[in-house]
Amino acid sequence: MMSPDVILNDGHRMPQLGLGLMRFGSEAETAAVLASAADAGYRLFDSAAVYGNEQQVGEGLRQSGLARDEVFVTTKLWNTEHGREKPRAALAGSLQRLGLDHVDLYLIHWPLPMDDLYVETWRALIALRDEGLVRSIGVSNFTAAHLGRLIAETGIAPAVNQIEMHPRFQQRALHAFHGEHGIISQAWSPFGGGGTGGVPLLGEPVLAQIAAKHGRTPSQVVLRWLTQSGASAIPKATSAQHLADNMASLAFDLDEGDLAAIATLDSPEGRTGPDPLTFAVKHFA
Ligand SMILES: NC(=O)c1ccc[n+]([C@@H]2O[C@H](COP(=O)([O-])OP(=O)(O)OC[C@H]3O[C@@H](n4cnc5c(N)ncnc54)[C@H](OP(=O)(O)O)[C@@H]3O)[C@@H](O)[C@H]2O)c1
Repeated sequence: MMSPDVILNDGHRMPQLGLGLMRFGSEAETAAVLASAADAGYRLFDSAAVYGNEQQVGEGLRQSGLARDEVFVTTKLWNTEHGREKPRAALAGSLQRLGLDHVDLYLIHWPLPMDDLYVETWRALIALRDEGLVRSIGVSNFTAAHLGRLIAETGIAPAVNQIEMHPRFQQRALHAFHGEHGIISQAWSPFGGGGTGGVPLLGEPVLAQIAAKHGRTPSQVVLRWLTQSGASAIPKATSAQHLADNMASLAFDLDEGDLAAIATLDSPEGRTGPDPLTFAVKHFA
């Protein structure tokens, strides 16, 4: 089974469901997961300079036997590299580590509003795209206000905004704003981290009931809720079973009652990761 593509606002295509590559193991482990992901139909691979594994990812993709034009590789500009000039060298470093001459999607990882350099950084990404070093450009963890400034000051909307998005933190207003501007919402941590009230998201009774009704798993319900809304998702998975289950989420549909029940899980307190308005970490984790 393969993911369908979504069409980005620059005309390029991107698989809707991909594989998140944060916190992977050794080079051999990464290569083994990438080979198994390739077999399971994955073609979108989400890395970042700060994950420290671009080299392993590049090597694993080469070993997977997939041709370059079959895969869609994302990487991200880290927080130390904002500004008009720095992104060029940062991207060159990522390309060198990945062993590629271009990436398919390059994202500004965090907006760092306290530094107020994200518009300049965006201008730099536009130039890199125009030179062909990256096919599509986007952002991550941007709010509607940040996106509004990019659009107003450069005339170019990001193709993608990769954000924390799951049933406990549904991002309805931002997802709607994305829709108005042709920006694809891409969900990170779709399974919701550890959970806020002590119950992990995938243990939510509402999700269990919907899963049982369709003969699916709670994780498949979550992913289908995302993809059915037009969002992209990049769950991290390492086991062959999880990889296959996640891809198979595309093979069923939720009904209106399911969607209404999932809507009740949304919470303003549901965020599990950092708040983009205050996140300012500059070191490599
Ligand atoms: N842009 C950003 O700021 C940002 C921030 C955080 C994450 N991300 C991206 O988003 C990706 C995913 O986020 P994440 O890694 O935090 O969390 P996640 O995808 O929500 O959850 C990953 C965890 O879920 C497990 N899992 C996977 N499939 C499952 C299934 N079918 N059933 C039950 N459990 C399952 C995985 O286990 P196994 O590994 O054992 O399979 C892993 O422990 C990252 O890898 C990264 O690429 C981006």
